[in-house]
Amino acid sequence: MQNIINVAYLVASILFIYGMKGLTHPRTAVRGNLTGATGMGLAMLAVLLDPGVEKYQWIIIGLLVGGSVGAVLAKRVEMTRMPELVALFNGFGGLASILVAGAAVYKPSIALPVGYTTAQYYQANIATAATGLIGGVTFFGSLVAFIKLAEIALGGSVRIPGKTVINALLVLGCIAFGVLLVMDPSNSLYYWGIVVLASILGVTLTVPIGGADMPVVIALLNSYSGLAAAATGFVLSNNVLIIAGSLVGASGLILTGIMCKAMNRSLTNVLFGAMAEGEIASADEVYAGKVKSTSADEISMLLDGVSRVVIVPGYGMAVAQAQHAVRDMANLLEAQGVEVEYAIHPVAGRMPGHMNVLLAEADVPYEKLLEMDQINPTLEQVDVAFVVGANDVVNPDARTNPDSPIAGMPIIDVDKCRTVVVIKRSLSPGFAGIPNPLFAMDNTLMFFADAKKAFQEISASIKENM
Ligand code: TAP
Repeated sequence: MQNIINVAYLVASILFIYGMKGLTHPRTAVRGNLTGATGMGLAMLAVLLDPGVEKYQWIIIGLLVGGSVGAVLAKRVEMTRMPELVALFNGFGGLASILVAGAAVYKPSIALPVGYTTAQYYQANIATAATGLIGGVTFFGSLVAFIKLAEIALGGSVRIPGKTVINALLVLGCIAFGVLLVMDPSNSLYYWGIVVLASILGVTLTVPIGGADMPVVIALLNSYSGLAAAATGFVLSNNVLIIAGSLVGASGLILTGIMCKAMNRSLTNVLFGAMAEGEIASADEVYAGKVKSTSADEISMLLDGVSRVVIVPGYGMAVAQAQHAVRDMANLLEAQGVEVEYAIHPVAGRMPGHMNVLLAEADVPYEKLLEMDQINPTLEQVDVAFVVGANDVVNPDARTNPDSPIAGMPIIDVDKCRTVVVIKRSLSPGFAGIPNPLFAMDNTLMFFADAKKAFQEISASIKENM
């Protein structure tokens, strides 16, 4: 039986790797997701075949409760709420690891199976301590990230006086309990001591991180949840858990790196320094007397005779669910021979790939979605750029004002286009909470409206003028 289980684990691991390969491109992503899910199903079946399983009822209850909650959440959650859901999933991964390693502490037959060498004995004990530490940080860090993203509380960057000293003491406390646990794994208090201190650490590490750094935190917590699972794999000597956890840990770290680059933030800066303070000009200083508003009719006249149009979507397009209305207007323009492209910023919206998913849902061909580096050098030849509910990712201050809190963050240089039409409901700021001088530039027109309604009106006006 053990051989069958090992082969099943091996096949499951191969399926995970193929699944991840599929996730690297939108065209193969759905297949990749299904491949990974098949691997997980197989791994679960193999676990159930393990002769070590004494009672099935708790496993079945767990499967039913967890499976139904997961299915309902995944079906019901709106695209705009996806990052919160990902934060919760990461957190539950950490919690599951804490509980499994915690159970092993109470069951020395798992932590200390007969025939373990001294090295294996220490390995299992160190892994238990590591699971408590990473799992605690992941669970509570993810809960804080969820609360921040859902805008329930703790908005922006919250200062914790003396946080460096507090964090250092918490880490030292975890190490001390870890050493005690390795020496005497039968004393469960040491394990729960680690979990409690790590949980506080998860809160103190995440609470001060605010604004534009949130995507990095989500990616990093995702990586932590994988590392916690891998550590649990060492506790249980379970290969598939080690492999799956390492895959999640490594891919989360790579994603963290990509996100840091897209926001021009170093990881240490994100984790240990609050978001740069910078000089924030008041909205009045930036906008007073300089903002020009426009209407659907004026825009449809502006579009008469243009040859190249670029659409820059942001979080507001997701809120308004405007992707279909945007696509309808693009279809009208394309029917008149206009070249329409979409400029995608890596952190536009509230999660990696947010805009790609929405535009794919509206059947916009992938070839029309251009990445920031691809489209930026060509923007001077664009007649009209539509900024659809985007704000921070088109803020020219990032490029031109070294004192701005987002200085150095790469942006889509729409301000270089001949005319910019910004569609949003008001002059209120985006996620980073700072004014955007783009809205006051000579070549910018503001259409103050809900994005979906705005595009429907523009399309209607284009049709009237046809
Ligand atoms: P934001 O800078 O957050 O701006 C979104 C804009 O959408 C707001 O200014 C809002 O203005 C407008 N809006 C909201 N509802 C709207 C509606 N119904 N119709 C039209 N407009 C609407 O978005 P962005 O440019 O996409 O930038 C993303 C920001 O989020 C960056 O700072 C990024 O770092 C951060 N972030 C990104 C991620 C990832 S991974 N993508 C995750 C977390 C945070 P009004 O209220 O005036 O309409």
